[in-house]
Amino acid sequence: MPASPLRLGVNVDHVATLRNARGGTMPDPVRAAHAAIAAGADGITAHLREDRRHIRDADMERLRREIDRPLNFEMAVTDEMMGIVLRLKPHAACLVPEKREERTTEGGLDIIGGREHLAPAIARLNAAGVRVSLFVEPEVHVMDAARALGAPVVELHTGTYCEAVIAGDPERIRVELARLARAAAHGGGLGLEIHAGHGLTVESVGPVAALPQVRELNIGHALMAEAIFDGLPAAIRGMRAAMEAGRAGTAA
Ligand code: PXP
Repeated sequence: MPASPLRLGVNVDHVATLRNARGGTMPDPVRAAHAAIAAGADGITAHLREDRRHIRDADMERLRREIDRPLNFEMAVTDEMMGIVLRLKPHAACLVPEKREERTTEGGLDIIGGREHLAPAIARLNAAGVRVSLFVEPEVHVMDAARALGAPVVELHTGTYCEAVIAGDPERIRVELARLARAAAHGGGLGLEIHAGHGLTVESVGPVAALPQVRELNIGHALMAEAIFDGLPAAIRGMRAAMEAGRAGTAA
């Protein structure tokens, strides 16, 4: 049976990181979103962090208004973010843990310990027609917990797998891929839509794209890093080619 299509969500946070380094208006993350869509992105992802270190409120408003593809609003579950997301009503909200001191989102959401806090937020987003995904560690018991919470989508955290690829450690890569594969199969079997992301590069994306339950990948940093040298359209085309090769089972 041919694998279902795999969507690419392009995360534009780090265009805003570069802009904010000088405090001006360039480069514009919304322009990057338009360019990404023109180059074949299926959707745009942006994370409005509590400290506004990259994406700012006005960016999110413009993304919501201007782009004609699904907008995935990454957010911590705080009263402030819930107010913004329920006002903007993007296509999707990806709930992530957030610590001020971290460089990026370091681990998945604690959806078991955080159940009481998350359940009402998920219910409100579901009722508002915002598709909720939970950014979680790729573990079977976490899939069960996500299902019980009523979220339609999980995004599997690929960070540990990507670190193993960077370290060039075949045994760790094998273990991490097996963990991702088990979680994807179990979650898919429960009826969850499976997404994945964090730290993916052209080198690491293939085996994740090959997991048949995975329907969407969200990728940012590696695309923006490559765009410096080759331009964003070429970076996106290169990533898509690596995804498609992985999906078709022809990755190196
Ligand atoms: N998915 C989630 C939930 C994230 O928090 C991030 C990082 O913002 C990404 C995907 C994209 O990660 P990267 O920028 O490493 O590709």
